[in-house]
Amino acid sequence: MSLRFFINEQEQHVEDFAPETTLLNYLRQIGLTGTKEGCGTGDCGACTVILRQGDTLETLNSCLCPIGALDGAQVFTVESLASNEGLHPVQQAMVDLHASQCGFCTPGFVMSAAALYWQQQSVTRDDVLEALGGNLCRCTGYRPIIDATLAACNAEKKEPAPTHHTRTPNAAPSAAYALPQSLEQATAIKQAQPEITVLTGATDYGLALTQTLEQPAAILDLSRIDSLKQWQLESNTLTLGAGLSFTALESIFAKHLQSAVPLLKRIGSRQIRNRGTLGGNLGSASPIGDLPPLLIALNAEVQLCAHDGSRWMSLAAFFTGYRTTQLQPNELITAVRFALLNNDETLHCHKISKRHEDDISTVLTCLKLKHQGNTIAGAKLGLGGMAATPIDAQVTAEAILELGLNQSWLPTLTERITEDCSPMSDARASSEYRIHSACGTLERTRLELIHA
Ligand SMILES: Cc1cc2nc3c(=O)[nH]c(=O)nc-3n(C[C@H](O)[C@H](O)[C@H](O)COP(=O)(O)OP(=O)(O)OC[C@H]3O[C@@H](n4cnc5c(N)ncnc54)[C@H](O)[C@@H]3O)c2cc1C
Ligand code: FES
Ligand code: FES
Repeated sequence: MSLRFFINEQEQHVEDFAPETTLLNYLRQIGLTGTKEGCGTGDCGACTVILRQGDTLETLNSCLCPIGALDGAQVFTVESLASNEGLHPVQQAMVDLHASQCGFCTPGFVMSAAALYWQQQSVTRDDVLEALGGNLCRCTGYRPIIDATLAACNAEKKEPAPTHHTRTPNAAPSAAYALPQSLEQATAIKQAQPEITVLTGATDYGLALTQTLEQPAAILDLSRIDSLKQWQLESNTLTLGAGLSFTALESIFAKHLQSAVPLLKRIGSRQIRNRGTLGGNLGSASPIGDLPPLLIALNAEVQLCAHDGSRWMSLAAFFTGYRTTQLQPNELITAVRFALLNNDETLHCHKISKRHEDDISTVLTCLKLKHQGNTIAGAKLGLGGMAATPIDAQVTAEAILELGLNQSWLPTLTERITEDCSPMSDARASSEYRIHSACGTLERTRLELIHA
């Protein structure tokens, strides 16, 4: 049992490691101190590195990634970019266009920019904004950083993508870290050790490691189970594996559920979307998770799987209280399924947060409407950020159905929404703000529909 992976093409062989060891801590222990720690919470991007798996090159926040997750993988840090011939083109552009002052954020920006450089032949300003959305700079100002990235990524590509080493991951890189490749193995481990800490992308659980300094006795990491990354479309029902990342969902939704794509692009940053998963979004049962309100509006069902069988249940019934669910100790979340929109149905999602990129919802509304000519024949509403759980807002949806499109929804919905939930007041917003902004987004949907 040991952990083997590659950093900047050098094989790492780690005989013994604590399950809570993050990639960032490891990098700094071995002297690769170019990668910085800013926040330790996935918010600043100073710790960004590139992970190569198969043909894909993607960025991730090394501060949140347990090293056990990396068995057989290939990681590139900022130290890998420059060569004897000089700086990497994105580094050179940062120098030429004065895109760095204190430089603390710079390694992270450079890694996000380098991933974009290798991923796309040419880029637009929007591509750059999206790629850099998870990186914060406090002193240079973003314009020169964006200009440098644009210039480097649109120049003739002289720097080939790093080479790829393959190595089959070890199902147990340490006694305390299980990295199974089949669901069968994973459910057997969960059956035998129901208390084991489960994670997939660790973008939520990673915070327990860096903020509350949790030291799990053992980890069951589901991120290498290919069957959980599958999806299928059968007679208009879309079934999504729980291990699909937000980035993977973006391309599936682009084909089959376009009206949900803008919401996906507002989830976390590119680094978070590359690692964070559907199963983790439901498993964390957070009141501000963005997929539950969407999936509630779509009447989705969730699949829970134990070693001796599986069951499907309505997602709306899955959440039982603040961060509690119907998941039994021997079960894992394996899939979600829902019917795609029919031609007479529309979906309207509005997320309100303090920062456009990389911020969680203060309020999220996801409304599915069924239309019959100019009248509304059906309404289903999921609310996020409002209460201890995601809400299936049946009273508000019923009011929308009764009101139709020809009168303002605001006065009635502002009253009725409190029958669905008692919105909380916290550091993000007051209860009144939540009520008014949720109803405001719904009224906006009405106005968009009548002026369409
Ligand atoms: C900076 C930052 C920004 C973020 N922004 C957003 C945002 O805008 N919107 C949003 O919704 N979320 C956001 N998140 C939260 C997080 O990224 C998501 O909830 C993500 O979906 C978690 O997925 P994961 O695979 O990383 O989960 P993990 O961290 O691996 O796990 C989270 C929880 O789910 C459980 N779990 C994971 N997989 C399974 C499974 N298959 N079966 C059973 N239980 C499981 C784990 O036990 C754990 O309790 C953000 C997080 C950070 C750090
Ligand atoms: S240190 Fe800030 S995102 Fe990792
Ligand atoms: S250059 Fe100082 S924080 Fe970005």
